Amino acid sequence: MHTQVAILGAGPAGLVLSHLLSLHRVESIVLETKSRAYVESRIRAGVLEHGTAQLLCETGVGERLKNQGMRHEGINLGFSGVLHHINFAQLTGKAITVYGQHEVVKDLIAARTSSGGQILFEVADVSIDALSTNRPRVRFRHQGENRELTSDWLAGCDGSHGVSRTSLPPGALRIFEKTYPFGWLGILAEAAPSWEELIYSHHEDGFALFSMRSPSITRLYLQCKPDEDLTKWTDERIWENLERRLSFPGDKKVRQGRILQKGVTAMRSFAVEPMQYGRLFLVGDAAHVVPATGAKGMNLAVSDAWCLSRALDNFYSEGRTDLLESYSERCLRRVWKAQRFSWWMTSLLHRFDVNDAFELRRQLAELDYLGRKLCWSFLGG
Ligand code: FAD
Ligand code: PHB
Repeated sequence: MHTQVAILGAGPAGLVLSHLLSLHRVESIVLETKSRAYVESRIRAGVLEHGTAQLLCETGVGERLKNQGMRHEGINLGFSGVLHHINFAQLTGKAITVYGQHEVVKDLIAARTSSGGQILFEVADVSIDALSTNRPRVRFRHQGENRELTSDWLAGCDGSHGVSRTSLPPGALRIFEKTYPFGWLGILAEAAPSWEELIYSHHEDGFALFSMRSPSITRLYLQCKPDEDLTKWTDERIWENLERRLSFPGDKKVRQGRILQKGVTAMRSFAVEPMQYGRLFLVGDAAHVVPATGAKGMNLAVSDAWCLSRALDNFYSEGRTDLLESYSERCLRRVWKAQRFSWWMTSLLHRFDVNDAFELRRQLAELDYLGRKLCWSFLGG
């Protein structure tokens, strides 16, 4: 089998890339280790930046997003028991859209399959080689058979645990990494959201995040240990902590409901340079991971995919290689800005050491300063 662009991974990066390439009439084949049902129901991100939502709508995969996505003009920061609203629409003229990543994945798979796109699910034993030649190769098993796919270019969109980055020779990439002494315990609950917009809550006991997926589903997170034992968290303990960390003046409190899903996510900052090796391009989480506090991961993945699709379109339509050559440099400029923002939000809102009273006061002073600064911007100051 041969194709112009072989894509490893049917997450947001791989699917957006395949979708955009098809609009440019560039052929691709996507290989995915999990099943279609699994990737379409995997609960991950929920916040689409303005640019991401606009790209999906403008390229014909935004129908459900327009109907079911929830436009939020701002977010709330909670600290010292008070909510401070940050109005993005007033400050920047732009809003965010709350729409589950798995819904984006469903929309993209539907678009690819209905236009004849090839996605092979449940592939196994994936390995890559010949990356420095003009015919990189992927070997894999599918439906019990050993298969081989050669291509002009290979896109590693296989997430932070995929094979594309880890198959490269030692020293090919420079690695930048930071771990945090906490994780997030996330739940999905069958409950109507109590507040209209997200709440990022700084609390003496640890960070909490109030989010949602639809008018009847709430998504909530609690700061926890990075290796937290979920069996120690009964539903009662989860709700009691959420209520305490998300308690603000007024009648509203966290509405409880049946817990549909529970999980722990580690917080990590990670990036490699460059995002290319020979004919392999790393896209999305395969090249960089940000702590979820900044809600940037999926948006960065989509932005990388857009950048690479343009570069490949230029190569096939005009024979130009300059955009392919500058892919890594252009993406990394945005990646490092998102790394800085995500690190800052994480540092501002989490308790790193419950015994560090100085750090707690410093965070509260910074949050207070931020609240006032943003109020000034609302007033045009
Ligand atoms: P992935 O989504 O990880 O997709 C990679 C795909 O490759 C997977 O389907 C995997 O099965 C497949 N794969 C793996 N190995 C192979 C292989 N060898 N061969 C073929 N396929 C393979 N981001 C935001 O922007 N906003 C948010 O609000 C947000 N919240 C988050 C909340 C949580 C709890 C978590 C965990 C993440 C959150 N993120 C958020 C981050 C976001 O989910 C990721 O950045 C995003 O999934 C990256 O997309 P991707 O396509 O690069 O990688
Ligand atoms: C989510 O809804 O899952 C979500 C929202 C905001 C974040 C992270 C996750 O910063």
